Amino acid sequence: MTNIQSGIPAVDRYLDDGYLAVRGMSSRFAAAIAATTMRIQSENGIAGHIAEIGTFEGRFFIALAHALAPGERGIGIDHFEWPDPGVIHRFKESLAHFGPKDDRAIVLKADSRKLTPERLFALAPGKRVRFFHVDGEHTPEHLLNDMTLAYGALDPKGVICLDDMLHPGYPLLALTVDAFLRAHPELRVFCIVDREDIVAAAKFMICRSEHVAFYEDALMRAFPQHVWPLGADFLAYKALVLAIEPRLAKID
Ligand SMILES: C[S@@+](CC[C@H](N)C(=O)[O-])C[C@H]1O[C@@H](n2cnc3c(N)ncnc32)[C@H](O)[C@@H]1O
Repeated sequence: MTNIQSGIPAVDRYLDDGYLAVRGMSSRFAAAIAATTMRIQSENGIAGHIAEIGTFEGRFFIALAHALAPGERGIGIDHFEWPDPGVIHRFKESLAHFGPKDDRAIVLKADSRKLTPERLFALAPGKRVRFFHVDGEHTPEHLLNDMTLAYGALDPKGVICLDDMLHPGYPLLALTVDAFLRAHPELRVFCIVDREDIVAAAKFMICRSEHVAFYEDALMRAFPQHVWPLGADFLAYKALVLAIEPRLAKID
């Protein structure tokens, strides 16, 4: 497997030396693609904060935090009760050891169902969120709440990234995403990041439809060797699929 890079030196140092030492579930492949998406944003004048629901011990959050530009903040949200109350200390230790050595990270111990976009804006004023990772509880109720919160806080050119999509353990989550997208026809999935294994599952990346071509083209240029040629069939459109080994079945 190739260890892809994001092109942001601080992120890539963490991905190569730290990422797998921090307990968590998101794949290194997905973290590199998420940070690359943030690099593409920064290079094209898209500024804003990041937020993550379901920070756990900080594996994915630290990668995103390293991709922030000066003046941007990272809001790490978790109720920090699972699997035990010590998780918040392990998160803060990982952040201190592997994270940026400044005050860009904001730790928010909260139930995401009690949050509003205004609460996030008060914590990190001046900008909206340009990359929002939704990785909290995997019930329809939580996912709908968390997607609504993410969209309410999102910059118009921002990206919502959903974890554990198409996971065999949570087969009905895609129905909630489909219902949300039907209620918001201005949004589209522009990229599916394929899973690494069953504990490092696929992610959907979503943006407003007028920015789909921008993100798709830039990610295809960044990772041509990982583009799965058939794309993801959403019936009305196709989305980019990035896979570690983007092979097709042999039929001859
Ligand atoms: C699968 S873990 C996240 C893994 C992490 N994002 C990673 O990539 O390594 C899910 C997290 O969501 C948190 N969570 C679940 N329900 C929540 C809620 N309602 N509000 C805030 N956090 C929640 C859990 O405490 C847990 O830490």
